[in-house]
Amino acid sequence: MLHTNMKVKGDCEMEPIKRHWWKECVFYQIYPRSFQDSNGDGFGDIRGIINRIDYLVELGVGAIWLGPVFKSPQDDMGYDISDYRDIYEGFGTLADWEELRDKLHEHDIKLLVDLVVNHTSDEHPWFIEARKSRDNPKHDYYIWRDGKDGKEPNNWSSFFTPSAWEYNEPTGEYYLHLFSKRQPDLNWENPEVRDEIYSMMNWWLERGADGFRMDVINLLCKTKGLPDASGPVDMNGYVFPTEHMSNVPPIHELLEEMAEKTYGDRDVFTVGECCAMPLEEGVKYTSGKKRQIDAVFSFEHIDMDAQPLGKWYYRPWKLPELKEKLAKWQTGIGDGWVGLFWSNQDQPRALSRFGTTDERYRVQCAKMLGTILHNLHGTPFIYQGEEIGMVNVPWTSVDQLRDVEILNFVNDCRNTGAPEDFMWQAIWRKARDNARVPMPWDDSKNGGFTTGEPWIMLNPDYKEINVASAMADPDSVYWYYRRLIELRKHNLIMPYGEFKLLWPEDEALFAFEKHLDGEHWLIAGNFSDKEITVTLPAEYKNCGTVISTMKTHGLGDGKLTLGAWEAEVISFEL
Ligand code: NOJ
Repeated sequence: MLHTNMKVKGDCEMEPIKRHWWKECVFYQIYPRSFQDSNGDGFGDIRGIINRIDYLVELGVGAIWLGPVFKSPQDDMGYDISDYRDIYEGFGTLADWEELRDKLHEHDIKLLVDLVVNHTSDEHPWFIEARKSRDNPKHDYYIWRDGKDGKEPNNWSSFFTPSAWEYNEPTGEYYLHLFSKRQPDLNWENPEVRDEIYSMMNWWLERGADGFRMDVINLLCKTKGLPDASGPVDMNGYVFPTEHMSNVPPIHELLEEMAEKTYGDRDVFTVGECCAMPLEEGVKYTSGKKRQIDAVFSFEHIDMDAQPLGKWYYRPWKLPELKEKLAKWQTGIGDGWVGLFWSNQDQPRALSRFGTTDERYRVQCAKMLGTILHNLHGTPFIYQGEEIGMVNVPWTSVDQLRDVEILNFVNDCRNTGAPEDFMWQAIWRKARDNARVPMPWDDSKNGGFTTGEPWIMLNPDYKEINVASAMADPDSVYWYYRRLIELRKHNLIMPYGEFKLLWPEDEALFAFEKHLDGEHWLIAGNFSDKEITVTLPAEYKNCGTVISTMKTHGLGDGKLTLGAWEAEVISFEL
């Protein structure tokens, strides 16, 4: 840990800030099956990533979150693991992973392993044993219940619907799966399970992993007795058990134990994917007396566009809500820390969700979103393709989709007679495959991703939106992202500055100040296609542009003018 005497100035003087490498660098998320294929099988692999290391180095990122590459039947694209200590043949070998680690480390880029321990694959040897009989030594590694009145033990729906329970013939019981039926939930109450997982985590740390992105880590504990969930009933008649699976005690003690037995004394980074997490819980995860996890991904700004029945039911939103959700975490996280993101492998493309896909504004809007992301308080995670301004895919047929979640949703819609239009709107807006199509490296066949048949189609716009054309254009999103990443290396105000939201009710302007050690910045982004002019607060002196998405900067006469979807960062004195 690095220490600094920097203090945040402003209304409240804060303790000296604890500096860490993972607060100061920008992370890049690689979705391995779609980044780069090296052997023509149409499927991205570790060798492909190794071949693209120069790209990552030039972009300037300091760390990689690599999606799961372990042995897996790939029912949920690798989030269903059948051997935690080996690599799926499609991705390569353990030796490839080690080579990737070494090559990244040569360039001072860290490598995070995706830790998926809420569940395993049904092909994991533990589950193969566990399901054989009630007295099998591995039986208690998973969560089992007898049926009730010939039906599932409770009314829980799974993330991938319909029920969270699956009947197991040999034992005459049901097992719990919060995700697909091929992803049985582990029983974290069993000390043997905990020891197995801790030993596996140490195995990766000893192999040089620089930490973990922790899949649904706040779901490990479930309410004792597994009572029925209350809440809206879905189209299949089940209820999503948010209150019985998210942040359920003793989750904090469990994570303290995990840290103590594995990464607790190491200079590595852990970031937890935490769905349905109120701010108070995020604070506890990241700043309790004992180390639990270092940072959390909050989903409040993501869930904003969903109705209580879930992500497929779109809820329109306005900018003040987005600002309010982000600002709450910015100011409330205290000594804890957050991972910042607009998108990931489960979410629509940032431009399609938060910005515009109108080709007249796509480039500046992507730069504007990047400007906000890199200047918020926390650690930015760029999802592959964001740096070239990728957008959602105009799917035309269900055969083009591959993800278990969306395919189950399509089945549910068709089985329950839901309107086709509702189904298609949901696919275009929210299907996870929108962010999973291959990285388009150039405008050649299959975008230079593979010489074979890609496992999923490319976005048909790849001839225009691809890395080579972005690199050839000095005004591209790519070059602007490089500037943002570089800027973050030299300006501690970006990660550490104290955040203050301005004009919270404005429906087009997202503006906030950052303050650190006598330095002051204003970050302003226009979330509309109309020009905005802001009169700067009268106390701002000696204003200067730090970075701008505009060719002609908008600063002058105590005013800042932002064109459609543009952003500018200015420094000022008080
Ligand atoms: C969250 C992951 O990000 C998602 O891709 C996966 O399907 C579920 N967890 C289950 O592991």
